[in-house]
Amino acid sequence: MLIKKPADIKSSEITPRELYLNRRQFMLSTSAAALAFTGVNFANPPAQAQSAGKLANVKKSNFSTSEKLNSLKEITNYNNFYELGTDKEDPAANAKYLTTRPWTVAVEGEVKKAKTYDIEELTKLAPLEERIYRLRCVEAWSMVIPWVGFPLSALVKLAEPTGNAKFIQFVTLHDPKRLPGQKIPTMEWPYVEGLRMDEAMHPLTILSVGLYGEVLPAQNGAPIRLVVPWKYGFKSIKSIVKVRFVDKQPAASWNMMQPQEYGFYSNVNPEVDHPRWTQATERRIGELRRRKTLMFNGYGEQVASLYSGMDLKKFY
Ligand code: MTE
Repeated sequence: MLIKKPADIKSSEITPRELYLNRRQFMLSTSAAALAFTGVNFANPPAQAQSAGKLANVKKSNFSTSEKLNSLKEITNYNNFYELGTDKEDPAANAKYLTTRPWTVAVEGEVKKAKTYDIEELTKLAPLEERIYRLRCVEAWSMVIPWVGFPLSALVKLAEPTGNAKFIQFVTLHDPKRLPGQKIPTMEWPYVEGLRMDEAMHPLTILSVGLYGEVLPAQNGAPIRLVVPWKYGFKSIKSIVKVRFVDKQPAASWNMMQPQEYGFYSNVNPEVDHPRWTQATERRIGELRRRKTLMFNGYGEQVASLYSGMDLKKFY
């Protein structure tokens, strides 16, 4: 994503693997330099044990796809979570730093019922459901993931947004001890993302607290992350500590950093290429062949009406 190589290869020549290898090479040099510069110490993780275990009373959901699941190993070892490192394997290796108890999520801004929730309370806010969703990364790879979570709309309703609440901004934990990648200025920390209110209220939009029936692993955004399956994966912000109701379109990390490459809406759209590679196809992790990317990641029937009348080439 970040990964700007000055001598960029023509987008027509890029395959995800080449992309990945270029990126890896680039990050190896830049992150080594950054590490040396900032003196980041990734050693000595905190001793506190991570909470883990099975989640009880998880219902199946009609919103699930019946496609073949990616394995737990794939889902937990091929991650984008820059706060835990920029290579795909880094978040799993550095997951031990991210202690997730105690943890609170502040709901604030344009709401009648502002409140700071303890994570235990938040997890019990609504019945937990298994949602098997496709996740399409902007880097043109995809996975099928059995999330466990509940609709974001349940939290929004409890907050009672005022008439001024038009968007929601989400904020990731900012704590370089627990997210040591934040010691390196790869992006402006904390990571932030945003949704329009109708997107936030859509029944497909969930807050996830688990996957494969178990508590969410740190590398996947524990203890609570957003999942918006019709948008590129970067909208699905991890390890959330703030949910802020606002009147204007809020800042979103990738959009802020490279607006010509990452729009605010970020709906999966095979007709709008990334300036440096095609978005018409993708590689499902675990497969060699390329698949055609579907409009709205295959969720068009449910979400296209949210964008009727909008030029999706302009509002990418
Ligand atoms: N959230 C935070 N805080 N930091 C990140 O680097 N990466 C995003 C998104 N959420 C990211 C994040 C990107 S680019 C993707 S594709 C998904 O998380 C990946 O989620 P996964 O690792 O659980 O598959």
